[in-house]
Parts: sequence; structure tokens; C-alpha cells
Amino acid sequence: MIESSNKNYIKYSWFLLGVVFLVILAGGVVRMTQSGMGCPDWPKCFGMWIPPTDASQLPADFESYLSKQDIDHSFNVYHTWIEYINRLLGAILGVFIFIYSVWTSIKFSDRKSQMKKLLWTNLGLALSLVIAAVVGSSVLLKIAGVLFVLLAFYSLFFAIRHALDRPVVIVSILLLIAVAIQGWLGKIVVDENLSVVKITIHMVGALVIAALPLININILKERKISVSPFLKHLLSGMIFIVLLQIILGTQVREEIDVISKALSYEQRDLWIDRLGSIFIIHRSFSWLVLIGTIALYYKSRKIVGFVKASSLISLNVFIIIILGIIMVYLDMPAVAQPLHLFLACALLMQVFYARIRVV
Ligand code: HEM
Repeated sequence: MIESSNKNYIKYSWFLLGVVFLVILAGGVVRMTQSGMGCPDWPKCFGMWIPPTDASQLPADFESYLSKQDIDHSFNVYHTWIEYINRLLGAILGVFIFIYSVWTSIKFSDRKSQMKKLLWTNLGLALSLVIAAVVGSSVLLKIAGVLFVLLAFYSLFFAIRHALDRPVVIVSILLLIAVAIQGWLGKIVVDENLSVVKITIHMVGALVIAALPLININILKERKISVSPFLKHLLSGMIFIVLLQIILGTQVREEIDVISKALSYEQRDLWIDRLGSIFIIHRSFSWLVLIGTIALYYKSRKIVGFVKASSLISLNVFIIIILGIIMVYLDMPAVAQPLHLFLACALLMQVFYARIRVV
């Protein structure tokens, strides 16, 4: 049963999850098109808030930006705009998450009216910050900035202290912190020219951000699904196996990144042949994912309210494996790469949500 007053909140949580996956997909497209360094600086792009659409609009010192580029050293409008749209989506997600945490803090607080007052004061100060910036007064800017930071922290404390339904509020604030860290990591990735280890951490960060709205949805949905202890353990094991497989996959991806770069992103038929043992491990590990999925399907086939979830999980595993096989036998078609990644992340979320829904 969902309390009717929570319906819109739950819908918004699903929407947030959808936007997270849109950002994950956009990240995959950036990689597929090798646009990662399309904007060589951060948060601006070629020192501009809205990047150029033509080489003639580049700043005079644009060479200093391009020298950081990973692949081509000429300006490529497609790379620039694909990367820019990717960043824009990330920023929009940040705004949506901010709205979510404010909404959660007010909705589940036992001091609603104080929370609202704090919100308005914060907004007022933010506005004065903008005005001070427009007017160009550095003294005003500093005063408004310090007050804003102090009040924002006080509001955060207040929200946590007076939260009636604490877990929901804490999860929403964790989400806000996670997205801020993720944005900062994005900057580091750009600064260090897409250093591979950081890419993996960035990926785990995205998975955490996707899991948090699901936790809130589960808290607010009162009716849980009752299953056998075996199925519960199986689901917990599946979370672990799929996560491990994703981490193995990212290691394969890091090798692919090195190989494809060495071959100037051409001769795709050679990429797989040059992979090391990590690929064999990743491929073989799929058997474990498959066996776990078949067991899950078999054990849950008679549980009302769970058959649909386990069928969708099975279908997803099937498609991911087919995409893996396509990459190997059809010389790495570019479109298969972001899809394989996208569906792998979705699989982890499916299994995770299934696990937290059962008792
Ligand atoms: C359920 C099983 C599987 C899962 C969850 C999974 C997951 C992943 C993930 C998360 C990545 C990283 C993608 C990226 O960061 O862009 C990856 C990469 C990769 N996987 Fe899998 N995978 C599975 C099965 C397979 C199979 C069966 C094969 C081959 C027969 C395969 C071949 C590859 C290859 C070639 C890459 C590198 C792709 C790239 O560079 O974009 N995978 N996998």
C-alpha cells in the first residue's frame, strides 16, 4: 500500500532514476563517439558557458585548450557538443536532486513551517548573491556568499534533526552529497585526461546515485513481498555477482580504451584479439550470472508479484550476453558498447530493487 500523499513523491523518485539512466546513457554515447575531451576544460567549455558551433568562434588562445585533447587536436564541433550535452544532463540531474532533497526535507519534517522559512531565506540569499555578482560588488558578494554557506549548512542540520521519517530524508541528503562528489570527480577526470581508474570510480558513483531513489521508494511502499530465505540469499548473492561482473567489465573497457587509442580508433576487428586474460574472466563469469538468473527465475515462478520482476531480469541478462557476443563476433559495433553498459547498470538496479522489496 502506498499512502496516497506519497504517490507524487514516489513518481518523482522514479523520474529521478530515469534521469540518472539518461545520464549513464549519455556518458556511454560520449565514449562511443570519443567525445570525452570535446570540452577540454571544466566547468566551462573552451572557456565559454555555451560552446562554439564553429571554429571561428573559438577564443584566441584555443590552442592551449586543444593541446589537452586525447584524440584529435583540431576543433570538432560534434565532439564538443556531445560532451556539452552530456554535462548539461549531469547539471540538470543535480538540479532535480537538489529539488528532491529540499522537497523531502520539508515533506517529512515535523517543523514544516520553519523548514519553509529557511528555504525562502536561502533562496533570498542566493538571489542577493546573483545580484551582487551582476552589480560587480565584491564586498557584497563576499558577505552574501558567507551568509549563504552558513545558512545552507544550518538548514541541512535542521532538516536532519527534525525529520520525522528520518531514513527518507537522510537518503535524499546522501543523494545530494553523492551527486556533488560525482560532479567533482567529473572535473578530476577532465583535469587528468580521463585517467582510467577514476572512470571506474565514476561508474560506481553513478550506481550509488541510481540506488538511492530506489531505497526511498522501498521505504515508502508499505507492502513487501514475502519469499523463502533461499530466494533472499540468492538475490543478495546476485547483487554481489552482478556488481563484480560490472567491475570486471570496466576493467575490460579500460583495456579496450588503451587498445583502441593505440589503433587510432580504427581496425575494430583487432580490438578483441588484443585483450588480455581479464576479458576471458569477464566472459566466463557470465556463466555464473546466467546460472544465478535461471535459479532466480525457477524459484520465483510461483510467487505472485515477483514473476514479472524475475522475467524482466532474465530478459535483461539474455540481451546483455547477446550484446557481449555481438561485440566479440561482429568486430565491436560502436552502438553495442553503450547498450551493454546501460543494460548492465539496469540489471544491477533490478536485482537490488528486487532484494530490498522482499522480506
Ligand atoms: C550478464 C553478463 C555481463 C555483464 C553484467 C557485463 C557488464 C559489462 C560492463 C559493465 C562493461 C563495461 C562497459 C563500459 O564501461 O563501457 C562490460 C564491458 C565489456 N563486456 Fe561485458 N558483461 C556481461 C557479459 C559479457 C559477455 C558474455 C561478453 C562477451 C562474450 C562481454 C564482453 C564485453 C566486452 C568486449 C566489453 C568491453 C566493451 C567496451 O569497451 O565498451 N560481456 N561488460
